[in-house]
Amino acid sequence: MRRKIIAGNWKMNKTPSETVKLIEELKPLVKNDEVDVVFCVPAVSLIPALEAVKGTNIEIGAENMFYEESGAYTGEIAPNMLTDIGVKYVIIGHSERREYFAETDETVNKKVLKAFEHGITPIICCGESLTQREQGITIDWIRMQIKIAFLNVTAEQAKKAVIAYEPIWAIGTGKVATTEQAEEVCAAIRTCIGELYDAATAEAIRIQYGGSVSAASAPELFTQANIDGGLVGGASLKPDFGKIVNYK
Ligand code: PGA
Repeated sequence: MRRKIIAGNWKMNKTPSETVKLIEELKPLVKNDEVDVVFCVPAVSLIPALEAVKGTNIEIGAENMFYEESGAYTGEIAPNMLTDIGVKYVIIGHSERREYFAETDETVNKKVLKAFEHGITPIICCGESLTQREQGITIDWIRMQIKIAFLNVTAEQAKKAVIAYEPIWAIGTGKVATTEQAEEVCAAIRTCIGELYDAATAEAIRIQYGGSVSAASAPELFTQANIDGGLVGGASLKPDFGKIVNYK
């Protein structure tokens, strides 16, 4: 059985001191030893967040990372800067980074390889636009994103990866995908991983759904055969996140 992984994506919200306050508030609510709980927070809040979650079941993740080791990349965060402070997860290729910061499937692939090189678990985002869904190319599009993201990634690494399927039209819009739509694409992603690697890798990899997940929609979504948890934006900043983590 795959262990569920429920991650909050705080995006560009909360100052470092607000972060500590919110973690203190959420700590008792997100207790659940049966699932992995990750809070992905802005870079400047990583250190206080790591400090605040000591002794709890919460892991801290970054929202982005660069694919070079060091050097003249003003404003970027190197992988060893994350490992040095104890960060275990990093979101890679979120649709907002693709839209506003020109990330591509190719840069996603470079970042995924770099994260694995440093032992950081990437949460690899993919997802179609509303136009692509209406054009009937959702599965083709997602398969392409996955194939490029996993170029040169070994089966051993892929087994540890987390994929977040996030339809762009469902992010921050309150329009959650139907359970059927979410399960269909997550199943297709697992099939694609099976083709790229083997059945054992497809069975091991964890696939999240993301996009307007709420306390109301989480129970049905997270109990689908191919959905192993969620990447949660808006609702991860509220006490509701406790209900999402304890969806059962
Ligand atoms: P949302 O964001 O839950 O606010 O839709 C999800 C995400 O962007 O990861």
